[in-house]
Order: sequence, then C-alpha cells, then structure tokens
Amino acid sequence: MNITQLRSLLTAVEDTSIAIGAFIKEERQKNIEISEKSFNNLVTQVDKTSEEKFVAALELLLPEAGFIAEEGTSTKNSDEYNWIIDPIDGTTNFIHNIPAYCTSIGLSYKDEVILGVIYDPSHNELFSAAKGHGAFLNRKPLTVSKTTKLERCLLATGFPYDDFERESGYFAVLKAFSHKTRGLRRLGSAALDLAYVAAGRFDAFYEYGLNPWDVAAGIIIVQEANGTVTDFKGGNSMLFGEEIIATNKLIHNDVLEVVQNGL
Ligand code: 2AM
Ligand code: CA
Repeated sequence: MNITQLRSLLTAVEDTSIAIGAFIKEERQKNIEISEKSFNNLVTQVDKTSEEKFVAALELLLPEAGFIAEEGTSTKNSDEYNWIIDPIDGTTNFIHNIPAYCTSIGLSYKDEVILGVIYDPSHNELFSAAKGHGAFLNRKPLTVSKTTKLERCLLATGFPYDDFERESGYFAVLKAFSHKTRGLRRLGSAALDLAYVAAGRFDAFYEYGLNPWDVAAGIIIVQEANGTVTDFKGGNSMLFGEEIIATNKLIHNDVLEVVQNGL
C-alpha cells in the first residue's frame, strides 16, 4: 500500500470512528446491558453492537484484511493486513459514566501497526496516525512533550485489576515513580493514555497485561508523534507481548530503568 492509499484509508477510518463514537455516546443515555466476561472484565451490548458496526465498515474499506477484535465479531485472519479493534476502550468507565473511554482501531501489516485512530466521543477528540505520515489531533499535527527530567514528568499507568501475580513488583515501581516524578494518573483506558502521551499531556505511560486491541492504535500514534514505544525489555514486543512503555523518547531510558528494577 502506498502513502496515498494509506492516507485515504486513514480519512475513512477517522470518519467511521466519529460516526460510531457518536452512536456510543448516544447509547450512554439509555439503559446499558452489562455482562462479565471474566473477573472484573466487563462488556456491554454497546461494545458488541459497536464492534459489529466497525467490522462491517472496515470490511468494505479493505476486503483482504482480517480482524483481531476484542468481542470476537470476526475471526477472519490474514498473514498481511489485520484490523485490530477495540470498540470501547475503558468499558468500566463507560459503565460508570466517567468520560474516559474511546474507540480504538489499528491496522497492522505483518504484525506492525501502520495506521491508528482513537476517538474520544465525550470530548470530540480524534487522535490518528499513519506510518510515515505523522500523528494528528482533530486532523492537526501533534507531537510528544519535550520534558527531559523525570521530576517534571507526569506519568500514566494502569493498576492491576485481574492479574495480581506481578503486583508486588508493580507497586514497587509505582512507589519509585511517586518519589521521582510529578505524579501518576490512572485513566482506565490504555488507548487514551497512549493518545495523551502522543499529545504531550503525559510524558510516559507503562502497563502490563494489556491486549493488542488496547494498544495497537496508540502505538503508531505515539511513534508518529515522535515518541518511543517498547516492551519492558526495551524490545519490540509491545503489540502482542502484554507489556508496554511509551514515552516522549527523551526519558525512555530513565523510565525503562525504573520499570525494570521492579518488573
Ligand atoms: P477495556 O475497557 O477495553 O477492557 C487499562 O488498565 C486497560 O485494561 C483498559 O484499556 C481496559 O480496556 C482494560 N480493562 C479491562 N478490565 C478492566 C478493569 N476492570 N479496570 C480497568 N481496566 C480494565
Ligand atoms: Ca474494550
């Protein structure tokens, strides 16, 4: 796919995300049907319906692509292009009516994310990027922060909520960062955390136990905003490896070192 095709695909995915985001926001006003997929892992009828809408729209845009979708709407898989879909990232927030949830759509080519769109319908914020084309907030270019000192940094993370095996290491890292930084936030949506790193609002984000649909779009948006994204070893297994560190690039080694000391 050349850059012109990728750019027009990006516009189409942006428009689709805004339309489905508006549907999600509207559904929030109604009674929401909730079920528990596993301990603390909630899903609503709105997640499922929104995913069906995404799959139907994205299938038309790129018929040869497969899907990796949180609610399992399509199991069609491809060796080349795959849409990686989280119809609502931050479902717990959505259920509790906390306006920190979004749609998150990534497109991977041979396991590398080349396009990403995150849409926050509560604030009408559209974060997007395509490989080699830059990152955007509401279609205007965006870049990561320029902070170089940890003590001036605001970090984001996600607390353990269902996988408690690594929690002592996790809380040791949390303690170290509370001493070394301006503070930490836990939004409850990994996609928004990554979008905010790309926008320079957070200087870094780290979390373990995430799924590809939580991070796919955010990875390319941070990278195209000139940030750095790795796993906890500093390697490239952040899409499927369930460990992610995203930073403004300048503090990446410092953040990595603190994370590695506990996790
Ligand atoms: P989800 O809303 O798509 O499930 C942040 O910790 C990430 O973990 C979110 O991106 C969220 O994605 C996922 N998650 C799943 N269950 C969660 C819970 N009970 N609390 C917080 N995050 C949860
Ligand atoms: Ca979800």
